[in-house]
Amino acid sequence: DWNMPDYIDEAVRSIRAQVGDEEVILGLSGGVDSSVAAALIHRAIGDQLTCVFVDHGLLRLNEGKLVMEMFAGRLHAKVVHVDATGQFMGHLKGVTDPEQKRKIIGREFVEVFQAEARKLPNAKWLAQGTIYPDVIESGGAKNKKAHTIKSHHNVGGLPETLGLKLLEPLRDLFKDEVRELGVALGLPHDMVYRHPFPGPGLGVRILGEVKQEYADLLRRADAIFIDELRAADWYDKTSQAFAVFLPVKSVGVMGDGRTYEYVVALRAVQTQDFMTAHWAELPHSLLGKVSNRIINEVRGINRVVYDISGKPPATIEWE
Ligand code: XMP
Repeated sequence: DWNMPDYIDEAVRSIRAQVGDEEVILGLSGGVDSSVAAALIHRAIGDQLTCVFVDHGLLRLNEGKLVMEMFAGRLHAKVVHVDATGQFMGHLKGVTDPEQKRKIIGREFVEVFQAEARKLPNAKWLAQGTIYPDVIESGGAKNKKAHTIKSHHNVGGLPETLGLKLLEPLRDLFKDEVRELGVALGLPHDMVYRHPFPGPGLGVRILGEVKQEYADLLRRADAIFIDELRAADWYDKTSQAFAVFLPVKSVGVMGDGRTYEYVVALRAVQTQDFMTAHWAELPHSLLGKVSNRIINEVRGINRVVYDISGKPPATIEWE
């Protein structure tokens, strides 16, 4: 049986014993696993930990601000916030192929992270939020198959390149245990119970070429959708929900005028394992409210559609 205060004490002791007085770096993404790993390691070794938060410009609305407020502000952890938006946008210019986009984002991410890590020559450890299912999966065939369908963005290989030892304090935990641990460490419930967000971020939710203008519109539409899902108590009943930017224009009317603007698709799914998924049967009234708000509040979008495709054959993300 699992007793949280004892578990935290033991994990803290074990991290201290492993690391001694050496320094640790950790890539903070805003996701559940890296956040909980950061909070736990910070509890154990305080300022011997430096978190590196790489903002690729493809994060959700206010995400960077929230991560900084939580880790630098409330936990007083050392966090290096790297705004690499320009670099990512530059490399993505003119690129439309989904796999190519993933590869570029993954590659630039590693570049930026390595450059930051080299500025911390005293670091001897790289901490990662690897959890038990990742450990099993990386040996299994199931994962390899998933990878050939969509190349997932991860930072495997980084510790070797940087000559760092690996610190993975969540390796024995399942996702629900990681969440409980996060809450016990003082992380906000909403952060710890957040839907998964892909490494390439909005880069795979903007179809075709990624542009700053599209990312800004999408962030606002997505935030409205998530707000309304939470308000209607549907957020926790869905496994993943988000908006997708379609770079096609359609005609609309506003007042006495005609508009010709972009389309946003809403996607919400229910799933156990993300290998198969059902589209969520959200109430029409909720969909209507989200649509009205997006069209009224986000100038540049005049049409909202709801994705009613299951996985398979559709994937959860549109790219
Ligand atoms: P699909 O779209 O393949 O997604 O049905 C299944 C789950 O994986 C997430 N996903 C990714 N996560 N990097 C990630 O870290 C990626 O490139 C990536 N592509 C998909 C997706 O959000 C869903 O939870």
